[in-house]
Parts: sequence; structure tokens; C-alpha cells
Amino acid sequence: MVVKNICCLGAGYVGGPTCSVIASKCPEIKVTVVDKSVTRIAQWNSEKLPIYEPGLDEIVKARRGKNLFFSNNIEKAILEADLIFISVNTPTKTFGNGKGRAADLKYVEGAARMIADIAKSNKIVVEKSTVPVRAAESIMNILKANNEPGVSYQILSNPEFLAEGTAIQDLMHPDRVLIGGEETPEGQLAIEELCSIYEHWIPRKSILTTNTWSSELSKLAANAMLAQRISSINSLSAVCEATGADVSEVAVAIGLDSRIGPKFLQASIGFGGSCFQKDILNLVYICESLSLPEVAAYWQQVIDMNEYQKTRFTAKVVQSLFNTVSGKNITLLGFAFKKNTGDTRESPAIHVAKTLLDEGASLNIYDPKVEESQILYDLTHPSICESPEEVKKLVKIYPDAYSATNGAHAVVICTEWDEFVTLDYREIYRSMMKPAYIFDGRKILDHEELINIGFHVQTIGKRLPRPLSTRMWSGTAVV
Ligand code: UDX
Ligand code: ADP
Repeated sequence: MVVKNICCLGAGYVGGPTCSVIASKCPEIKVTVVDKSVTRIAQWNSEKLPIYEPGLDEIVKARRGKNLFFSNNIEKAILEADLIFISVNTPTKTFGNGKGRAADLKYVEGAARMIADIAKSNKIVVEKSTVPVRAAESIMNILKANNEPGVSYQILSNPEFLAEGTAIQDLMHPDRVLIGGEETPEGQLAIEELCSIYEHWIPRKSILTTNTWSSELSKLAANAMLAQRISSINSLSAVCEATGADVSEVAVAIGLDSRIGPKFLQASIGFGGSCFQKDILNLVYICESLSLPEVAAYWQQVIDMNEYQKTRFTAKVVQSLFNTVSGKNITLLGFAFKKNTGDTRESPAIHVAKTLLDEGASLNIYDPKVEESQILYDLTHPSICESPEEVKKLVKIYPDAYSATNGAHAVVICTEWDEFVTLDYREIYRSMMKPAYIFDGRKILDHEELINIGFHVQTIGKRLPRPLSTRMWSGTAVV
């Protein structure tokens, strides 16, 4: 079989960009991305795509209606497809056994059942969503138990390693593509089919084939190890602040050791995003289920350190503002979990906002790509607040950084958007209450310049001097 028709179940952050790039690199293959959500598909077919990702608009515009289609007609797409990607969401369970840790596989299971109900011919089913190890087995069991006579399936694991904000770049030039399948001749043939799609633009040597379980575990392991680096450097940022070392200097110094390498050593207010926390919790849960409590505790510590970092940073904000933020106006610049995305899943900004709201602060929030409705949705979620009405009174969303900072007591940088680096901070200082504070949770600003302007500045992993005026007044050289 040569794959001519691809269907992707789930038009989210993974399915949308991945299939757009496949359509662009394989013009002879028809790629149909389907979703249960009518709104989401309408957005994919509109001028304003449902997700912001640099370079995505251009690709979608070039291929949409030619060999790239977005549709709610799931049945038709499954019937036509030779190969089906499952890119549905796998959130952390919010109830029952494994609550708060295990992956909720109801959407994956739902997708498998849909395929089993609809398919009338052989299919290669590719698991793209991050799933616990041995999830492919569950998909296989569902498909085998429900299939039409004469219809056979091959299940492959092909985890996606793209990071949001650089998704198109990551898909065009991946470090590697990983494909796991059964070690049977049929399994190997299916692996070859999927390889041949990627070989349109990726050299064969960068396509790694493994057994299914190695592939599934590698995805969880890659995310756990990346997050572990961030928690490691964040733990050291606390030591830096206590000793006078500078975490950025430490990161450069250790990153130059080629065994360690320079990437993912940016100390921050903590990692966010839809993957890291979810995947580590999932790994922890699997380890516990396998009676490996020591391994579970080891990985849990990566999450605990992340919580500590978020809490530590926010406590510093409150403490600096004379231990009370009640009735004060605090501006959050950035709400997304990182720059170049409008995604707020597990964003550390949510933690910062919640703590400040609990302390009675009023918040002004500006993010270049996150919609007002999303911010209010996140902050009025039952897990965040008891009184949505109160939150709506205390939170105001602004269309730009200048209006958001006007009259504020303090500015907190939560996301490292480039535009925050080049703002006119003299102008911002003039319009703020005095003393004016900036808390740079992403280490992106020119702290010396801000201090010269008159700001009190705090950042991660480095002690900074107070503004000149207060130093002359107190007559001390300071911390
Ligand atoms: C991650 C993985 O990188 C990707 O391979 C996987 O497919 C999905 O999960 P993503 O969550 O989109 O991607 O973003 P990533 O760039 O990994 O950043 C995650 C979080 O870590 C962000 O909140 C980011 O700000 C933070 N981070 C990253 C740091 O705090 N310091 C760093 O040095 C790097
Ligand atoms: P991810 O970040 O993993 O891509 P998203 O939540 O952005 O996750 O996207 C997952 C998408 O999958 C959602 O748009 C959801 O509506 C869709 N979805 C879930 N179950 C099904 C299903 N059985 N068939 C089609 N789409 C589905």
C-alpha cells in the first residue's frame, strides 16, 4: 500500500500544525484534519486560525483546499484514509483512580472506537498524542474487538516532539522522528509506510524506528528530562539569590561543558505548557503502578521544584511590596506559558495571578496573543477561585503594555515576549505609582537600565542593587 489519503483525528496544537506541514511537503497526499468541534474546524477554515504559531498561516493558506482539508465529517475522512493519526487531547484525569496524575485516555479510546465503527478497509493507525506506555495495546484491543471482518489494523506510535512557538521549525527540521511498531512483518511494513511520508523532507538517518513501547516511553522520558533540566537550574537560582552568584553566568559556565550543553538552562518562574507537568505526572503514576516508588518519588521532585519556584517568585513579589498587595494595582505582562504562543495551559502566570488575587491585589493583564476570554476563563476556573464575580471585578485586560501599566504599583513579567524587551520603560516609570517595582520572571530586561531609571527591580537567580536615589538616601551600598 502507498499512502494517498491521511486523516487526522483532532485539530489541536499537535494535529493542526503537523498535518499542515505534511500536506505542504507531500503535495500528492490528501490530508484531512477532522475534529468533533464545529467551532474549531470553522476557525481552521477561516482567516484567523485557532492557534498562533509563527509560519503556520502561510502554510495553511498555501495548501488549504488543495491537499489540506479541515472538516467535521469524521466518517468520510476515516472511510477514505489509508493512514489515521490520533491527535486528540490526553489531559490529566480529574476524577477516580489516578486522579490528578494518570492520563485520561477517554478521548483516545473514543477515537479508536470511532475508527472501529466506521472503517471498512485496512488502516494504519498512528498514535500521535502523548500516551502512557502500552496505550497502543489498548487501542489495538478496541480495534480488534470491534473490527469488520476482513479489516486489519496496524498500530504505530509516532510521538510528536514539536514545541509550541517553534512548531513549524521543529516539524520542518526535527532532531529526529521516532516511529514505534510491532516487530512482525506487517508491523515493519507499516513502519516503512510512515517512514516514506517523512522521507519527503527528512533524511532517513534522522528517522528512528523502535518497538512500540520504547517509542511511547521515549516521549514521556524526553519531556521528563527536559523539565528536569529546568527544575535543576531553577533550584540553583534560589542558591544564587542567597549567595550573590548569578544564575545566567552559572548556566553559561555549565552549558559550555559539551556533556551538559547550553539548551534548556534558562531559569524562570517555572515551566508551563500542556506537556511537561502532565507527562511527568503520568510517568510518576506509571512508576507507582509498577511498584517502583523510588522512581516515582524521583520524578515527582521535578514537579515539586516547579511548584516551589512559582511560589517562591510570587512570595518575593508580595514581600517586596511591604508584605501587602491588598488594594494595590499589579500589572502582569504576559499570560501565555511561553512566548510566540497564545496557549495558557499550565502557564505559571495563572499561579502568580491566583496568589496575588488571593492576597487582595487588583490585576491589569496584557498578553499580545492570549484572548481576554481565555484569561478570564483560566482565572475563574473552579480550581483557581471560589468567586468568579470577585475575580471579574479585580482583573482588567488591556490591549497594550502602556495602558496596562498606567497607575500600577508593580509590573510582573510572566512571559518572555520580545516586545517587552523594547518597551519605553522611562515612559512606563513616569505613569506608575512610586516606588515603582518590576519583577522580571523571565530575566529578559536590562536591569541596570531599569535601576537607573528609578525602578526597584527583582529577578530570578540574581541579587540586584536598589535604585540610586534610595542608595544615596540610606547611604549604603546594597542588595
Ligand atoms: C515541550 C517539549 O519541548 C516538546 O518537545 C514536546 O513535544 C512538548 O513539550 P512546549 O511545552 O511546547 O514543548 O514548550 P517548551 O519550549 O519545552 O517550554 C516548556 C516550558 O518550559 C515553558 O513554560 C518555558 O518557558 C519553560 N522553559 C523552557 C524554561 O523555563 N526554561 C528553559 O530553559 C526552557
Ligand atoms: P493537543 O495540544 O494535544 O493537540 P488540543 O486540545 O489542542 O490537544 O487538541 C485536541 C483536539 O482533539 C480537540 O480539538 C478535540 O476537540 C479533538 N478531539 C477529541 N476527541 C476527538 C475525536 N474522537 N474525534 C475528533 N476530534 C477529537
